[in-house]
Amino acid sequence: MAKPKDQTIDPGEDTLDETLQSKAPMDASRPWLFYWTMAGLTSLGEDVSAYKQRLMETVRPLQNPTGGFGGGHGQLSHCACTYATVLALACVDGLDVVDREAMWRWLGQVKQADGGFRMAVGAEEDIRGAYCAMTVITLLNLPLTLPSDSPARTAGGLETFVDGLGGWVSRCQTYEGGIAGAPTNEAHGAYAFCALACLSILDAPHRSIPQYLDVPSLIHWLASMQTVPEGGFAGRTNKLVDACYSHWVGGCWALLQAAAAAAPGTSDEGKTSSSSSFPAPNITTKEIEALWNRHALIRYLLTCCQQPGKRGGMRDKPSTRPDGYHTCYSLAGLSAAQNHYHYDATRDTGSRSSEKSARLMAAFNWEASVPTAEEMERAKYEEQDRVAFVHPVFVVPMGVVERTRVKFEEGLKV
Ligand code: FPP
Ligand code: ZN
Repeated sequence: MAKPKDQTIDPGEDTLDETLQSKAPMDASRPWLFYWTMAGLTSLGEDVSAYKQRLMETVRPLQNPTGGFGGGHGQLSHCACTYATVLALACVDGLDVVDREAMWRWLGQVKQADGGFRMAVGAEEDIRGAYCAMTVITLLNLPLTLPSDSPARTAGGLETFVDGLGGWVSRCQTYEGGIAGAPTNEAHGAYAFCALACLSILDAPHRSIPQYLDVPSLIHWLASMQTVPEGGFAGRTNKLVDACYSHWVGGCWALLQAAAAAAPGTSDEGKTSSSSSFPAPNITTKEIEALWNRHALIRYLLTCCQQPGKRGGMRDKPSTRPDGYHTCYSLAGLSAAQNHYHYDATRDTGSRSSEKSARLMAAFNWEASVPTAEEMERAKYEEQDRVAFVHPVFVVPMGVVERTRVKFEEGLKV
């Protein structure tokens, strides 16, 4: 029997070049190296502005005329490469190099009729695509309205990038309580972060997370990822501790604690008012705080995960070598465990603006505060070992997110 024509896979004329590019090898890690190094350095409080010109000139040829970034010149546009490049550029204030309109059109090609996003035209649809695409759309303030030729519009009748997205994320929650990369797959910590961060872009976490996820079962699964005796996190059931999950799993807690926090105008922490149309997760932020051990995570990272000697980088576990990926995400996880992150509901403008093209503002409402002396004493570290505030949704410095919000306040007319 002939395979039915799948309009979401079949590339039109406009995307033919990209399909041909897919036959070329992909250097998937190059934009990540830019991101991991810029994010890692900034979380150590380093000034990365000296890299601005070089980074802008290096990535300029990586944006395809059709919009997304590939891993190398002429390579296939890919959501992961695009996300990493945009975040690296944001760190050095180099986002002027991005052709935002072309980016909007390309993202329209990866948005799908079922609400999710593919990683590239014709590639797999998964939760990374949803988080990467929503990060790029929100930071660059691209229109939420879908381009007219988006398959999500032509085949699915959707109108905006957010249509159907929460429901699609919801389908990724598994019987274990964790989140899989795509519906029916195995739960993995990295995908839990992508799902929670994506929902925290979509709307305030106390609305979007309980609306689309079973919060108690997700918390149960995430708590079971913290390993004993190490104190770090594993990525999935029956696997070993690994420092990168200090971010992928450790970074979930701030988002969940914000999801459990009281909405403005309510008195009982963790219980939204009966007039709210969103279900309260029936657990308080304090109760969640007791379900993960941030001090044990800090101790694992500081005592086991830094390569001794001159090399200095961070590693998965003592038997392994340091690398850029583990350094970046160990530091992000360390920041999540050492510092405190709060969603400032007083800045929240309520449910999403009814204007279809309006920028999603929820992810810009976060605040951070330093640990108490007592907390530092409990985890046995000093001020010089404390890393900077890392934005809990976009995983770059808080100041970088604010600068990018202001830079693209104008929006884009298409
Ligand atoms: C398994 O690796 C790892 C996965 C199934 C998920 C990896 C996904 C990410 C790191 C998230 C990427 C996010 C973005 C934003 C693009 P493994 O089998 O080597 O590790 P494990 O044994 O620890 O599960
Ligand atoms: Zn790892």
